Amino acid sequence: MRSSLKLLALAYLGLVAALPEPSPSVDYNAFKGDDLITRDVCVIGGGSGGTYAATRLRQLGQSVIVVEKEPIMGGHTNTYTVPSSGLTIDYGVVVFHNISVVRDYFAHFNVELGPASFAAPTASFSVDFRTGKIDQGFIAPDPSAALQAWVGQLSKYPFLATGINLPDPVPADLLLPFAEFGYADLINQPTLYAMKLLSINLVQTLETGYVATAAHDNHLIYDAATAEFTAADSLLLSSYAISVERGCNPDGSSNIVVQTPKGKKLIKAKKIVVAIPPRISNFQGWDLDSEEINVFSTYRNEAYYTGLITNTGLPDGYDIANIGSNTPFNIPALPGMYGFSATAQPGLVDVKYASPFEQDDKTVQRNILQALGRLQIPNVTTTPSKVQWAAFNAHVPFFEHVTTEQIQGGFYKRANALQGHRKVWYTGAAWEAQDSSMIWNFTESLLPAIVHG
Ligand SMILES: Cc1cc2nc3c(=O)[nH]c(=O)nc-3n(C[C@H](O)[C@H](O)[C@H](O)COP(=O)(O)OP(=O)(O)OC[C@H]3O[C@@H](n4cnc5c(N)ncnc54)[C@H](O)[C@@H]3O)c2cc1C
Ligand SMILES: *[C@@H]1O[C@H](CO)[C@@H](O)[C@H](O)[C@H]1NC(C)=O
Ligand SMILES: *[C@@H]1O[C@H](CO)[C@@H](O)[C@H](O)[C@H]1NC(C)=O
Ligand SMILES: *[C@@H]1O[C@H](CO)[C@@H](O)[C@H](O)[C@H]1NC(C)=O
Repeated sequence: MRSSLKLLALAYLGLVAALPEPSPSVDYNAFKGDDLITRDVCVIGGGSGGTYAATRLRQLGQSVIVVEKEPIMGGHTNTYTVPSSGLTIDYGVVVFHNISVVRDYFAHFNVELGPASFAAPTASFSVDFRTGKIDQGFIAPDPSAALQAWVGQLSKYPFLATGINLPDPVPADLLLPFAEFGYADLINQPTLYAMKLLSINLVQTLETGYVATAAHDNHLIYDAATAEFTAADSLLLSSYAISVERGCNPDGSSNIVVQTPKGKKLIKAKKIVVAIPPRISNFQGWDLDSEEINVFSTYRNEAYYTGLITNTGLPDGYDIANIGSNTPFNIPALPGMYGFSATAQPGLVDVKYASPFEQDDKTVQRNILQALGRLQIPNVTTTPSKVQWAAFNAHVPFFEHVTTEQIQGGFYKRANALQGHRKVWYTGAAWEAQDSSMIWNFTESLLPAIVHG
């Protein structure tokens, strides 16, 4: 614990040291023809929040350009196509709430939704991955009674429905450490974050059922968005902003210089939507003011890794969850596995690994294989040396959050005051919760101001 705290502190210091440079002076007149892009809105980030914002803004008649640093859209939405069978496996974002915002969005891209269905595992084990031993005494708590009480708690705080808009003073209950639900990421965090993630609508969804794409391919909306935006000259993939100067043009628009695979381009946009994690390290080259620096330097984050492996030696259909045999609420020791679980493709196993701090991919992969090798399940021989990675993704940063004292000190008031400030709006998990459906509903609430801004 002490060493992970130390690492956290180091990671934090590293970020503080990496305060963005003021934007370099750029000769804007050098950008002509295809290298000059003029739009109503520049959306930074083509993941969950950014793709939704861009789609809706286009529907509302705005001209848009999306700047996404990866070669594909979709952010945390990872879908793997099994080469031999063509089967698609969602190993990132899996499920959505059945609300009109979600249904309308998928309908726009002609992607059919259906009930999210999960094949029941043939065998489930609760293992403390530090030892590899099954915890025979562990009984997973039945959440149904607790959920009713939880909804009762949530309904006391209707302001939590959209965004993180807290009254002043912040109700003390929201600041208590959250230690009643065994969700590893959240257990040591202020209750506010649990209430945002385990929202009333989520609890209702747990009762009525999630939805997912009928084709078991959640990336379909991003494929369709890529096609739609490309046809409308509204997408720059493998691209990122290197200089942002706001309000510098006579008409009040901002200049965003982006590095693209075809060289640098200048975007002149009346408005900007930031749909990337609002970490200070993501604002290199921006003309930040002191309030922006203050807010963006405050967030800290965790890290979440996901992948698909073959040749494990695990029988098909096995689900193996990490628990702490002797930890409060049996939360797994982190950094560590959440677990191994079966997929629809025989032989292909889903892995989830979480860490309170960022680790490099090689280290995480090694830790995962060591955890596999430690497993002691009767009649099962795992073979880490033969394992092949079919897919692996680092979701870093994950879960941007601040401390209890910072929440109490009005952090979210200051963060929300940045909405619209210097014609920039912000969406994504940091502003709502790690929940795409709720992020889209939150984004919806920003649209009128963006359109009229
Ligand atoms: C493994 C996993 C499973 C999950 N499962 C679910 C689920 O089943 N249901 C659910 O609702 N939520 C799920 N989530 C939560 C998920 O965080 C949200 O659904 C949602 O993806 C968060 O949206 P976002 O827009 O904040 O971030 P993202 O979707 O990650 O989008 C951010 C985008 O910005 C891009 N980017 C980053 N930096 C830059 C830069 N400097 N310039 C340009 N682009 C940049 C990234 O490449 C990315 O495409 C899951 C998350 C993970 C990691
Ligand atoms: C989602 O909700 C709609 C409207 O209530 C309903 O018609 C539909 O059957 C639901 N879909 C699923 C998969 O639950
Ligand atoms: C292991 O395999 C043996 C032989 O097939 C069987 O008798 C035994 O019940 C198995 N043990 C477990 C715990 O599955
Ligand atoms: C969506 O956001 C609106 C406010 O913008 C809120 O009233 C509503 O409760 C949210 N919907 C869900 C399902 O949470």
